[in-house]
Order: sequence, then structure tokens, then C-alpha cells
Amino acid sequence: MCGIVGIVGKREVAPLLVDALKRLEYRGYDSAGVATIHEGHLDRRRAEGKLVNLDQKLGQYPLAGRIGIGHTRWATHGAPTENNAHPHFCSGIAVVHNGIIENFAPLRAELIADGAEFHSQTDTEVVAQLLAAYRKQGLAPRDAMQKALSRLEGAYALAVLFEDQPDMIIGARSGPPLAVGHGSGEMFLGSDAIALAPFTDEITYLNDGDWVVITCDRLEIYDQAGQPVERPSQISRGAAYVVDKGNHRHFMEKEIYEQPEVVAHTLSHYIDFAEGRVRLDTGRIDFANLDRLAMSACGTAYYAGLIGKYWFERFARLPVEIDVASEFRYREMPLPGKMAALFISQSGETADTLASLRYCKDNALTIGAVVNVQESTIARESDVVFPTLAGPEIGVASTKAFTCQLSVLAALAMIAGRARGTLSIEDETRMVQALVEAPRLFNEVLNAIQPQVETLSRELSRFKDVLYLGRGTSFPLALEGALKLKEISYIHAEGYAAGELKHGPIALIDENMPVIVIAPHDRHFEKTVSNMQEVAARGGQIILITDEKGAAATTLETMATIVLPQVDDIVAPILYALPVQLIAYHTAVFMGTDVDQPRNLAKSVTVE
Ligand code: M6R
Repeated sequence: MCGIVGIVGKREVAPLLVDALKRLEYRGYDSAGVATIHEGHLDRRRAEGKLVNLDQKLGQYPLAGRIGIGHTRWATHGAPTENNAHPHFCSGIAVVHNGIIENFAPLRAELIADGAEFHSQTDTEVVAQLLAAYRKQGLAPRDAMQKALSRLEGAYALAVLFEDQPDMIIGARSGPPLAVGHGSGEMFLGSDAIALAPFTDEITYLNDGDWVVITCDRLEIYDQAGQPVERPSQISRGAAYVVDKGNHRHFMEKEIYEQPEVVAHTLSHYIDFAEGRVRLDTGRIDFANLDRLAMSACGTAYYAGLIGKYWFERFARLPVEIDVASEFRYREMPLPGKMAALFISQSGETADTLASLRYCKDNALTIGAVVNVQESTIARESDVVFPTLAGPEIGVASTKAFTCQLSVLAALAMIAGRARGTLSIEDETRMVQALVEAPRLFNEVLNAIQPQVETLSRELSRFKDVLYLGRGTSFPLALEGALKLKEISYIHAEGYAAGELKHGPIALIDENMPVIVIAPHDRHFEKTVSNMQEVAARGGQIILITDEKGAAATTLETMATIVLPQVDDIVAPILYALPVQLIAYHTAVFMGTDVDQPRNLAKSVTVE
């Protein structure tokens, strides 16, 4: 999604803005721009494509100025052209925007009727035009801003420069996050603390509906009603993280290989190693007395939730209602009293997940959140936060966040099982022991299977379609495998419950449709083998991901069999995520795609 930065200070800001934008690249974008005010004159540079293009343009046509705003755009309204890139100008006003102005069409019509001329296809330009119209009516910048904000519907974070106010930036937030960074004689605006990390670690987050005026030495925050409000500042962890690839070719590769460490780190937060038991304060979520748990999330986080559902229902006998957040928020699900809600999100800013959370909150449910970014809106609006300690995930494809989410959900399901008296101490101890050993196995597996996966991926990169199958917790993993492959390699892939094969997708099977079967030797194994037989009988090529027992029990000819160590059921989906991720990664590398920033995708999806 779009990234915003703003700097008012004492140094030349254009190179600083570009540096900050580079730290927001991970969010996904397709054009970029900066604007500054210098000697009372507002000017801008914009470029299609990657930041390197903007950098080159600034090299050729430098921009001076000690105040400025910058933007990486992820196109929603209008193609990713230079003309649609932000900042948008109108009569000495510059605007950058993240989100969607839902009522832009009537606003645009109204402004055109009043004589405005539009120069882009974006929804953002209405904000610049609206501000200009109010300024023309004689309103001061702050009043114009407040009036313009009252007209906007939808989700937005904004940063605005006024040519006649060369020491002031106004920011606003309704939906997507916006943070103010405190410097010494300088102030900053940013979509997140990571962008501001080179400048400051003292951050004030705006609440929804807030808008802020920053000058080089102060900030004034106002709420929706225009009343001055105080928001606390905090020391952000964003600065502590080095956002680089180390020795890896891509962030995604680095993040895959970080999993043994970050999963261990996350598990150690929830497990008492000495006692061999889960140690977890579930705060206001009283698992013992729940009738149902509602869960919701998007994309990979949703698949983690689906695996969690299997665990909650099996180990805690707790029924789970789970839906993708874009459906959950509108399906008007009845939410009876003895229900709690759990949301899962890496970024903690996903618009649909946040809206689902708010729906549950309005219905008086206790809200829990499994979140990676602790300062995020979802974390701040939840009653209980269960952190994943994955560190910043920069690759658009979620990898380490997923396995950390699974680790937290496993711990939560066990705690719920203990609270509801459905999980024996013996079973809990056995599962904890299995989880404790998992990170060591992850290391071994990553090193052991890498050459085989590379060879296999070279083969896979020749195909146009791939099918993933699994049963039990391997079914959501099949969905995740298909998502991972399609989002970064652009090969069409589908995930199916193995048992559904004969209800339709079997029609697709031929020698051009490789089928990746995720099948640990668990209680579903024999059934999945029958499905593999059905594939083989129709000339389908099978790639089997299983364990030693599974490999020994299968006589079918496969294109490849990836053999993992034997593990407990609770560890299997976490461990099996590794080959699934590596297959997608290496296939994408062979296809030569932009692995970390695949086309059309954004890391943090702050619009519906
Ligand atoms: O930040 P979130 O976990 O809420 O994001 C949810 C999805 O947008 C995300 O998992 C997406 O599907 C990834 N690109 C998957 O790799």
C-alpha cells in the first residue's frame, strides 16, 4: 500500500524523503514522488516504477527545500503513471494520500461544476482541489483542512503542504496509520515507525479521526471535532531493526531462514520450558466459559486461523466460526454473549480485519489479536494482544509471520484445552515438548531440502498451473501453498481439500497439472494416498511432501518426494510450511519475478 513521509526541519529534505520512502518499499508500490517548498515555491518530482527512477530524476533535476512530503503509490484509482503519482498539486497545495476516498466521484463532480479542472484520474486529487477551493473562499489552512476532512468518506492518511506556509505540514488519519516522529529541531510524519527510524525513535501515533499540524519544533493534534487533544509519545522498536537482506538475495529468503530463530523466540514467550507447559495469560478471554470463538483475518493470516480452528476444536472442543475478514465484516453474523473474537494480522493494519474487529467490539465481544506489529491499530484496539515475535517482515509474501502465528495459535489452543478440561496434562506436555524441539528441526530441514527444492522448482517453473492438496491441518496449508506460489511466481495455483478432488478439480488432472500433496503420516494419510492414486491414474504428476513413515508407505511414482522428519500433529503444519514456502520462493526466482515486491501486491492492505 501507499507510503507517506513528511519532514519539516533544518536539512535539505529531498534525499531524506527518498531514504525514508526506501524503508517503505516493502509495502508495495508502483510510482513515487516528492514535493518541497523552497524560497516560497512549491515544486515536485514524480516517477513511474521503482524509487530508483525517482532518485535518477532528482539527480537530474534536484529539488531544494527544508520542508517536504514524499509518497510511494500503490495504484487504486488510475493507472500507475507519472501523472497519477503523488504529490497532487492544486493552487499552491500539495497532497499525498494513502487509502481510498470513497465519495471522490460526487466531490469531483461538485468541484468540476464549480469550475475546477482535474489533471489526474486519482481519488486523491479531490482532496487538493477541495482544500484549494476552501482556501479561495478565504479559509486559513487549518480551517480549510478541517472542513475538507469533514467532507471525506473512506479511509485515508494524508500529508499536506501549503506553499504560503513554508514551515508547516498538516497530516490526518482516518483508517490507515500515520505516525509523528519527534526530532531535535525537526519533525517527521510517516506511515510507520520503520520509515522514521533513521531520524528518530520517539513516535506519537495519531488516533483514528485525528489530524495534526507539525512545525520544526512542535506538534498540535486535533480530534475529528477540531478539539486539541494530547496523544502520548513512545519509544518505537522500529529503530532497533536493521532492514537489510544480510547475505540473502531477497528479504523473503532471509525471512524463511529466520524462522527457526523467530519461532523459538515466539514460543519462548508462551511456553514455560522448565515446567514443560504453556504459560499464557489470556486476560479477559475466559476460554473456560466460551460457547464459541469467532476468528477472522485475510490472506496468509486467514490460513493460519483456519489451522487454529482445527486445533481449538480438537484440543479445546471449542467451536470456531472463521471467515475471511472481507466477508466477516458484512455477513452480519449473530454474536451471542458467550463468544469472544480473535483476529490475526502481521501488519495489524489490514482494513478488513480492523473493520471486523470493530464490528465485534460494537457487539460487546472481548477482542483478542495475534499481531506482529505491536504499535499497530489492531493491537491498540484489542483487549488482549498475543504478540508474534517475528520482527519486521519486509517481503510481501508472508512467511515467518505465518509460522509465528501458528506457534501462538497452538499455544492458545492448548491453554483453551487446559481451561476447558479437554486436554490432559500428558497431552499438553507431549505437545509442548514437540514444539520446543521444532526450531532445531526447522534448521535441519531448511538445510536438508534446499537443493532438492531448487531442482524441483526449476521443473515447476515450466508449468502454467499447479494444484495443492491436503487433509486436516494440511488443507489450509495447501491453500497457503497455492497462494504463495501464485503471488510471487504468477503461476496459477489452487489449493483443495484432498477429499474434494473428485467433486470437480479432478477434471483438470493431466500431465500438465502437477499436484503437490501435503501428507504427513497422520490419521488422514491413508485417505490422502487414495486421492493420490486418483491423480496418478489420470496421468497427473505428484509431488509428495511427507515424512519418513509416509515415504515408506507409498509406492506411487512421484515427480519428487520431499521427506521431512516425523513430528507431532501440532508441529506438522508449522514444519510443512517450510517446503511450501521454499517451493514458491525458488520457482519465483527461476521465473525471474520481483520476489519481494510482486506485481500489483502490497504488504499492508489498508483499503477494502
Ligand atoms: O498484515 P496481515 O497479516 O493482516 O495481511 C494479510 C494479508 O494481506 C497477507 O497475509 C497477504 O495475503 C500476503 N501477501 C500473503 O503472503
